[in-house]
Amino acid sequence: MTVVEARGVSRVFPMPAGPVVAVRDVSLRVDAGDYVALCGPSGCGKSTLLHLLGCVDGPTSGTLFFEEHDVATLGDRERSGIRLRRIGFVFQRFFLLPMLSAAENVALPLAEAGVPKPERDARTSELLRYVGLSARADHRPSQLSGGEMQRVAIARALANRPRLLLADEPTGELDQATGEQIAELLGRVNADGTALVIVTHDPAFARRAGRVLTMRDGTIAAEERHR
Ligand SMILES: Nc1ncnc2c1ncn2[C@@H]1O[C@H](COP(=O)(O)OP(=O)(O)O)[C@@H](O)[C@H]1O
Ligand SMILES: [Mg+2]
Repeated sequence: MTVVEARGVSRVFPMPAGPVVAVRDVSLRVDAGDYVALCGPSGCGKSTLLHLLGCVDGPTSGTLFFEEHDVATLGDRERSGIRLRRIGFVFQRFFLLPMLSAAENVALPLAEAGVPKPERDARTSELLRYVGLSARADHRPSQLSGGEMQRVAIARALANRPRLLLADEPTGELDQATGEQIAELLGRVNADGTALVIVTHDPAFARRAGRVLTMRDGTIAAEERHR
């Protein structure tokens, strides 16, 4: 089953000095359980493409389907519902809320989705256990290591059991050993059934994916399959 599909999608940013074509006529399908890595030099359009796949941004031309729905035909509420319940996002800089504990950060999307408190608490504990951080539930982000912060961010992204997890350079701020642990955790997330699209500059990380797409100047210049 298709989770997300881009058909001839472009994203042009109008700028005073002239339009910037960040993504140019990209077609890409991500099926349930897929693991896709996006690589390529800085500025080639990886983050822009990830935002399109995540329904955070809309294409200037072409069509984006999320679970068979043309995203352009959906209303704001349906689109934010998809972002909240069907898609998880992980960023290079974690983006945890500094005043909240690890557990409270993880529980945020559950609260937003209207999950009742007892169920929310149970799910939060389960998620912290899944990422190996049960002992850090009450720590604020400033009381966590970089790798721990990224684990909390991954737990938060998984809170509502998304079909698709998007990660933009999730190991970019971490040392190599910690980065490998995060790559391993994301591999487990995929093995447990969530489709994954990751952006990475690390070839060892990219090799874990079933498909490696290399972007250049907004297009997919090469595709490599590993399984
Ligand atoms: N919001 C924006 N407004 C204008 N230009 C942008 C915007 N976002 C990205 N770009 C431009 O689009 C191109 C692709 O950016 P990006 O997708 O962030 O690349 P990558 O993630 O591969 O480094 C770059 O040239 C960048 O300057
Ligand atoms: Mg980027």
